[in-house]
Formats: sequence, structure tokens, C-alpha cells
Amino acid sequence: MVTWAVVVAAGSGDRFGGPKQWMPLRGRRVLEWSVDAARTAGVGVVLVVPLGDLDRNDLPLVDSVVAGGSTRSASVRAGLSAVPSDAEIVVVHDAARPLAGPALFAATIAAVAGGAAGAVCAVPVTDTLKRVVGSDVVATVPRDGLWAVQTPQAFRAGLLREAHSTEPDATDDAGLVEALGHVVRVVPGDRRNVKITDPVDLAVAEALLGGGG
Ligand code: CTP
Ligand code: MG
Repeated sequence: MVTWAVVVAAGSGDRFGGPKQWMPLRGRRVLEWSVDAARTAGVGVVLVVPLGDLDRNDLPLVDSVVAGGSTRSASVRAGLSAVPSDAEIVVVHDAARPLAGPALFAATIAAVAGGAAGAVCAVPVTDTLKRVVGSDVVATVPRDGLWAVQTPQAFRAGLLREAHSTEPDATDDAGLVEALGHVVRVVPGDRRNVKITDPVDLAVAEALLGGGG
């Protein structure tokens, strides 16, 4: 099936302290790892970057580069608008997850090719979860059945376009497809697929890529 990836890299990295997608990570920039995984998975790639970075001369080689929006969802929409209309599956990936390997792309794409409306990679939550108000614990949330969702996330292209047609805002795309009434499938993620949110995550990614234990 005709499959395209949208790699969103148009954030400002406020929690990191700057645009983390350009940070060096074991000899390559963070976003180069993310784009390479998508390319290795053998799909067309649309890369979404901040408007001010569109004319950089060191962008990774992709099929198309577009400017993002002020929210992650707006950036996904910008990327979707550059995905050819014959795409049957679209896989969305955060550039901030440089350790997602091609196998995770393949697994989510295969689930959709096999009939799922959408598929996300995810791992069971291991921390104990508490609801906190101010600095008081008000509840302990049962962990049973709770999963931490990662990207890549693959969808039937038409459903993803429909989910975004009302210009909603959400932290992930699966939630939008779920809201349309479709069942999104979970495929096994990888605990090494860390999201670079603050500087300690980059240190973790460096260590994971360094090999050894
Ligand atoms: N992203 C994007 N466009 C935005 C916001 C986020 O393309 N307007 C991308 C980021 O570049 C990142 C992914 O969405 O690859 C996940 O977002 P997040 O980890 O929150 O990154 P930032 O928004 O850059 O970080 P922060 O929220 O700390 O500012
Ligand atoms: Mg953000």
C-alpha cells in the first residue's frame, strides 16, 4: 500500500531549553536519526520544520519539507497537506524520538495494512501513578491496562485527514482517530524509544546509542 511518513520537527523545545531537533546525537542531529528511520522503512517522507528553518542548507534529504504551525497538531496538518493524495497509509512520527527504529515503523504500518484503522506503538506503564492537586496526592491511579504511547503512529490516510479536518488540537493523532469512533491498535513499542523532552533525555539517548550496558 502507498505509505508516507510525516516527521514533525517544528517545535520550539521550550522544556529542553531550545529547538532540540537540531542537537547533535552521536554524530548526527536528532532529526536526522528520526528521518533516517522513516526512510529505512521505505516510505516517502515529508519533514515539517519551523518556518525560519525552511531555507537551511543542512536539512536531511526527504521528499518534501514544509513549515509547521504553532501546535503539534497544526504541524501534522501542514505535513499532511504535502502528502500525495494517492497515499493509503500515513505514519506520523515525532522528530523528538530519534531512537525509533525502522522496525517500529514497519510494525505500525503492517497493522494498518492488515486492516486496523490506526496503530500506535506503546509500552505498559511501569511507574506508580498518582493524581496530584497542588502538592497533595488525591488518588492513586490503578496502573492495570495503562500504556504509554509513543510514535510512530500509522493510520489509514483518509481517516487521519478526516480526523484533522476540524483543525483540532491534541497531543497525539491516535486520540483524534479514536474520537471518530475507530479502534486504534497497539503494537509493542520499545522502552529505548525515548522522547527527548529535557536535557536528561538526550543524555539517555546518547547512552543507549553508545552500546554496551
Ligand atoms: N512539534 C511540531 N510543531 C509544533 C510543536 C511540536 O512539529 N508546533 C513537534 C516537535 O518538534 C517534536 C514533536 O512535535 O518532534 C513532539 O513535541 P514536543 O516533544 O512537545 O516538542 P516541542 O513542542 O518542541 O517541545 P516543548 O513542548 O518543550 O516546547
Ligand atoms: Mg510541545
